[in-house]
Parts: sequence; C-alpha cells; structure tokens
Amino acid sequence: MDFRHQATTLEGLAGAAVDALLLVVVGEALDPALDPALGKVLKDAIEHGDLALKKGKTLYFHRPAGVRAARVAVAVAADGSPKAVKAAAAAGLGLLKSGGARQLGVAVVGAPLDAAVAEALVIAASDATYLYRHTKPSAPPAPAFSSLALLSPKGDAKAVQQGLRRGRAIAAGVELAREYANRPANHCTPTVLASVAKKLGKTYELKVEVLDRPALEKLGMGAFLAVAQGSDEPPRFIVARYEGAAKGEAPVVLVGKGITFDTGGISIKPAAEMDEMKFDMGGAASVLGTLRAIAELKPALNLVCLIPACENMPSGRAVKPGDVVTSLSGQTIEILNTDAEGRLILCDALTYAERFKPAVVVDIATLTGACVVALGHHHTGLFASTDDVAAKMIDASRAANDPCWRLPLDEEYDEALKSNFADMGNVGGRAGGAITAAMFLRRYTGKYPWAHLDIAGTAWRSGAAKGATGRPVGLLTHFVLGYAR
Ligand code: BES
Ligand code: MN
Ligand code: ZN
Repeated sequence: MDFRHQATTLEGLAGAAVDALLLVVVGEALDPALDPALGKVLKDAIEHGDLALKKGKTLYFHRPAGVRAARVAVAVAADGSPKAVKAAAAAGLGLLKSGGARQLGVAVVGAPLDAAVAEALVIAASDATYLYRHTKPSAPPAPAFSSLALLSPKGDAKAVQQGLRRGRAIAAGVELAREYANRPANHCTPTVLASVAKKLGKTYELKVEVLDRPALEKLGMGAFLAVAQGSDEPPRFIVARYEGAAKGEAPVVLVGKGITFDTGGISIKPAAEMDEMKFDMGGAASVLGTLRAIAELKPALNLVCLIPACENMPSGRAVKPGDVVTSLSGQTIEILNTDAEGRLILCDALTYAERFKPAVVVDIATLTGACVVALGHHHTGLFASTDDVAAKMIDASRAANDPCWRLPLDEEYDEALKSNFADMGNVGGRAGGAITAAMFLRRYTGKYPWAHLDIAGTAWRSGAAKGATGRPVGLLTHFVLGYAR
C-alpha cells in the first residue's frame, strides 16, 4: 500500500478525491468546521439514533449526498491520542476493507493529525490489510486498497511526512515479523530464517554472516548446541549488522530467540496447542522486522542482530534431563528440563554479544508460560539491569503503543537456580517462573547494560483470530532509534 499526505481542509473533506473516506471523530460534539455536506449526514445519523459520539461507535454510509467518495465510514475515538485514534481507525477500516474501495482517505475530526497520529494510522491500515496466504492459496483476496491518503491541512505536511516515514518502516517490519512467525515450522526452518536475513542484507547493504554447526562447535556454544542436537534440522546462528555510524560507535545489540519449533524435547509438551510452538521464533522474527525498519530509516547508529535458531526435538540424540553442558561463557548448566530451551540458546548468544562492546543489549524471547500468567496478552514482560535502560524501554513502548511492564530482578530470586552438579540449573521451579528465567539470563549479561523482553503473551493471539501480532517491532524500533546521535 502506498501512504501519503493529501492537503485537505476540514471544510473541504466532502470534495476529497478518494473512493472511500474514513472519518475518525474525536470529542462529544461535531467540530463545527466540518464540511457542511458531511456535517449534515452525520448530524442526521446522530438525530435518528444511528450514531452516537461515544468511543467505539462506527457507522457506514454508501453514497451519502454531496460527498465525492462513494463510501464513508465514521469511527468514534475516545480522545485524540495516537492510541485512541489507532483503535478507532482499526474499527472503521473493518467496515471498508471487504468493499471495493481502492483509494482510501483518512481524516481526524476534532483533533490534530500530528506525526505520532500519522504513524499510528499507517500501522493500523497495514495491520488491517495483512493476510496470511503462504500456505493457504484459498485465502480470500487481500483488501484492494492501493493507497492511503492522510487528509489534513497543508500546514501539517511536514509532521505528517515524518510520521508516514516512520509508520511505513515499522509497518513493513511488523508485516515481516508476522509473516515468518505465522509460517509453519516445515516452511520456516533455521535455514529459512538465515535466508531471510541474507535477503535483507542484499536489499539494504547489511553485513550478514551465518554460522553453521561446525562453526558453533569451534566457538564452544555448548548450551545452544545441546538444544539443537535432538533435531535433524541444522542450527543456524545469524549475525546481521546495520552500520549507520562510525565504526567506533558502540552498537545496540538485539538478540532474538529463534526456536522454529518447540516440542519441549525429552521433557515433551502435551499435544494440545503444541502447534502454536511454531511461533517460538517470534523473538527472532521481531528482530528481523526491527532490522528491516531501521535499515529503511537509516538512523546514525550501529545495530547488531544476533539470532540463534534451531528446533527443540526429542530423539535418540536429544539432550536428556540431568545432562550438564558447558556454555560459551565457561559456566556449566545442568539441564533439568529440556523444555526450558530458550534460555539455553540465548545465554550463548548473550555471551557472543560481548565481542561487540555494546552500548546496550536487548534480548527478545517467547520465553515463559509464567509471563503469560503474570501479564496476560497485553503487556510484554520487561526486565532491565539498570533503571536507565528500563526508562528508555518504557518511553519507547509509550511512543509506539506497544506496552511493556517491568518485573523485578532481585538477587533473592537467584537462589532458585542452584544446582549440586553444575554452576546452575536451567529451571527454578514454578514460582516466579518468568523472573527466574530472566535471572538465568542475567548470569550472562554482566558486561553491558541489558534488557530482556518476554513476549510469550504478546507475540501472538490464540483463538479464532489465531496468528502472529508482529510485536514488539514497534517498541524495538522506537527503542533503537533513541540511540541515534
Ligand atoms: N516456548 C516456551 C514458552 C511459551 C509457553 C511461550 C507458552 C508461549 C506460550 C518455552 O520454551 C517453555 O517451554 N518454557 C517453559 C519453561 C519451564 C519448563 C521452566 C514453560 O513456560 O513452561
Ligand atoms: Mn520450551
Ligand atoms: Zn520455547
């Protein structure tokens, strides 16, 4: 979809040259400046009880009198914030997307269309029109929208262009993350993830390196290899670098969990909903999506993306409960539960990250069911080694409408990881499971400021609308942009 700004006054909206018009209305009274033809249609609907100016309300009109667009949808927002406008736009787009409209125009009535609102609108439109089809040729045709024009006064042009640029980049990153997290494990293997990274590298002139099993053995990534050893699918360790600043500039490092399928291994998971474990590379997908967004935006910073990717399978060669392995850091780990595999592949990647002398390292992982129990599907779990990194992440999450909530990392929780047979066990019992998982990672991250995002509850939806959300590409993109000089 092509996104642009189209200078239009509130008084002239009815004449806008689009074939569908979406009005996001803010406030409890109609803005008196609103175009008389549209004002008349809306007032009439309100008087007859068909529309109320209350958040969440929507109404569709076909060929309303005096309006150039054949289709008009109205959606009422709670307020003028990007979050509220985005939610209303998503509802309004729902009324238009199955129709025949190609050129869509969106206007906000009763609140300014600033850069943040423009960004949110682009992402809402892109979210609403994404359709998974890779393994479903019978999927209905994608909505026919070819363009989205943000209709607002000429004076807004600069701010809107800024929002459009960021929105386009994030939307493309979100779409990439959704697409690969949706693809089943037989279509999205570690090798496929590596080829996605390679392709991004070609398109955006990034440095992409892919390490295979012999290279990982040589490095000594004993924890990552222990997870990978049960599968016939070869593991891959992806290193992708965006260089937007001087060589000496300390990079931001993102580390994404890339388990392309998590059976649990010998500590096998129950059958129900095991299919959803194809999403266990959601962290990796969000890192690739963020890399794409950053490469589009070209900020003055350095970014390194690390993705350990493999399957977690049971087999005659699989790692067994009680096995002790040596991680890249030299610390030994007693693998008490082979289903706590995410932390095992991440710890070696986190040690590998040290060589880049990072300004900050963020790992992103569908790490624990316990995080879903704690925070549900709305907030991503945030853990941070410093208040400064936590504050930066929370600010980014607000700016991106991609919420996260900080959980603690007190020393007291570390107790749970004690082992009689190794430097640590890989599980800490049921209590505080998201926290003890983070405490495990903390043991590998002493050399740089660090944050950990547990996206087990936010990277996808279950139920009827089952599928990947593309989160937290928005949060990560905003966070990384904060390091531009
Ligand atoms: N990939 C799962 C976590 C997960 C669970 C993500 C549900 C999304 C939804 C992870 O590898 C896992 O299996 N974690 C275990 C850890 C436990 C064995 C300590 C869990 O959460 O049960
Ligand atoms: Mn697991
Ligand atoms: Zn997992």
